[in-house]
Amino acid sequence: MMKTSPGTHLTRIHAAVAWFVAVTFVGASGHAVAAAKVPDTLQQRIAACTACHGVHGEGELKSGFFPRLAGKPAAYLARQLQNFQDGLRKYAPMEYTVRQLSPAYMREIAEYFATQQVPYARSPVPNASAAMLQRGEQLTSHGDPALKIPACSSCHGTQLTGVQPSIPALVGLPYDYVSSQLGSWRTGTRASAAPDCMAVIARRLGASDISAVATWLASRELPADMQAQPAGSIKPPLRCGVLGEHGGGA
Ligand code: HEC
Ligand code: HEC
Repeated sequence: MMKTSPGTHLTRIHAAVAWFVAVTFVGASGHAVAAAKVPDTLQQRIAACTACHGVHGEGELKSGFFPRLAGKPAAYLARQLQNFQDGLRKYAPMEYTVRQLSPAYMREIAEYFATQQVPYARSPVPNASAAMLQRGEQLTSHGDPALKIPACSSCHGTQLTGVQPSIPALVGLPYDYVSSQLGSWRTGTRASAAPDCMAVIARRLGASDISAVATWLASRELPADMQAQPAGSIKPPLRCGVLGEHGGGA
């Protein structure tokens, strides 16, 4: 299942750095682009992404550092690109990559990755006590009313496979990715349209609850059908800006 060698992560980072330098250089000289007669195709545009996210957007499963894009809802992906461009979500290479892209381009790229069908695999499961796993399951499936934390499944779907068009899956996400994203919401390096329900939830979860949820999610068997639930199939218990006025739609 885990075919990645320990060196893969470093190789990817190396490739990413080389890519960053190359783009910076070409951008500065300007003429290099014309001289190479690079065709302006979708394939060409996504070539800038695959060094980090994988050829089909499969991501880097082992560390979870480079997230999977394949199969995530298109509107969700497009919004993330917009958020990096607007500085709501911060990661310098991503901000740089999307800086010049028009909204139409970003939607097109998002559509491409949303339709990629790459098998899902489970990421490594960190060691955890039974109590921690139980806490993770409680938060995910039932929430914690005393802390005003709603069940994750109330928005992310009964199978946690996400909900069209704006809510991504939680199953299949590596431990490190989930814990770092929730941490980013707490510190403000990731934000989304106000009211930012995930920022509210991440702040209510303490560090140990974040760990518990991330561990339990990584320990889940993947459902046979990883498709996001249809639009309008949930009633969000908190208002989320990305879900619009009525809560369930775009
Ligand atoms: C230098 C490596 C690198 C390159 C090149 C890169 N990305 Fe990323 N991308 C990342 C990392 C790392 C993250 C996670 C950042 C974070 O922690 O928020 C990310 C996050 C994302 C996300 C959010 C994923 C999610 O599930 O929320 C999207 C969408 C995305 N990238 C698309 C792209 C596209 C499209 C391109 C090419 C135009 C691209 N990336 C190029 C490294 C890269
Ligand atoms: C009220 C609805 C709601 C609830 C409840 C909720 N989420 Fe979310 N979640 C969202 C929305 C909307 C997004 C997309 C945010 C964006 O566009 O930036 C999201 C995104 C995420 C992401 C980012 C995934 C990625 O691929 O980058 C993680 C991680 C996450 N939620 C974890 C959780 C956990 C853990 C819980 C339960 C403790 C939870 N969520 C409960 C609405 C919700």
